[in-house]
Amino acid sequence: MADLDDLREGSKFNTDIAVQNQAFHIKGASHLGWGMKDRLTRIFNAKTGKSVMLAFDHGFIMGPTSGLERIDLTITPLMEYADCLMCSRGILQTSVPANINKPICLRADAGSTILTELNDNVVIDIEDAVRMNVSAMAVMLAIGDPKMEAKTVANLYHAANQGAKYGIPVMGVTAVGKEMARDARYFGLASRVAAENGANIVKTYYCDGFSNVVAACPVPVVIAGGKKLPELEALDLCYRAINDGAAGVDMGRNVFQSESPIAMIQAVHAVVHEGLDPHKAFELFNDLKK
Ligand code: 5RP
Repeated sequence: MADLDDLREGSKFNTDIAVQNQAFHIKGASHLGWGMKDRLTRIFNAKTGKSVMLAFDHGFIMGPTSGLERIDLTITPLMEYADCLMCSRGILQTSVPANINKPICLRADAGSTILTELNDNVVIDIEDAVRMNVSAMAVMLAIGDPKMEAKTVANLYHAANQGAKYGIPVMGVTAVGKEMARDARYFGLASRVAAENGANIVKTYYCDGFSNVVAACPVPVVIAGGKKLPELEALDLCYRAINDGAAGVDMGRNVFQSESPIAMIQAVHAVVHEGLDPHKAFELFNDLKK
């Protein structure tokens, strides 16, 4: 029987104070369930609304590319500075410390390698994502690819259905085919298609007119870094993306291939969360590098 000794009646009901409805800080997420919101909040800082995601999933198509030969030596020391870690399940299970306590954006599709053409990617089982307690699943979209477009949109749609069932957000990753123009019209279309098919986050590339891409996308947009640039240029890319409305970066090579990856991720963090201008961020990079 419950212990009824000294059971105290509640008295502070404050009936004169209306319950506060709290606005949710992430674009397009107000109507989502609590689990989805909690996972998105682990990725996008509740104060700034932004995120520095560290992408090191490249090996799933490229193998041990430069900077990713030994995840334990090159990536593990960066993890504490990232807001979210993006990787494949193989790297998560073998090389990411389980006590790191960082949200994981799991590369949730698999298919071809750089040795062949894009092919019919498949999406991993949602149970795997649940088992690994991930905060999001990333699925590639090949918009404009006559062979792969419909299949990859279907993959995203399927992943979003599964994610909705278990409260796991999906990030649509817009791959750019060789034939595609890297402009706001293309990225705007690809991003919007991703969101319309259920993506809760869109990852795309920065371009001229990027603010239109962001404006027309009803969920947060983060940018990929792309090929390695000199550090100042990479920081400038982040700055322009944030200024144009990006909700953060999901950056790989420009961090882990930097001459000082630990300094670089901190400089990127300052641009994304504090709006530091690229020249100041580059000074910070040089100071930290010492
Ligand atoms: C490829 C990816 C990569 O994670 C992405 O390209 C980020 O890495 P980088 O900043 O090196 O471009 O999603 O589809």
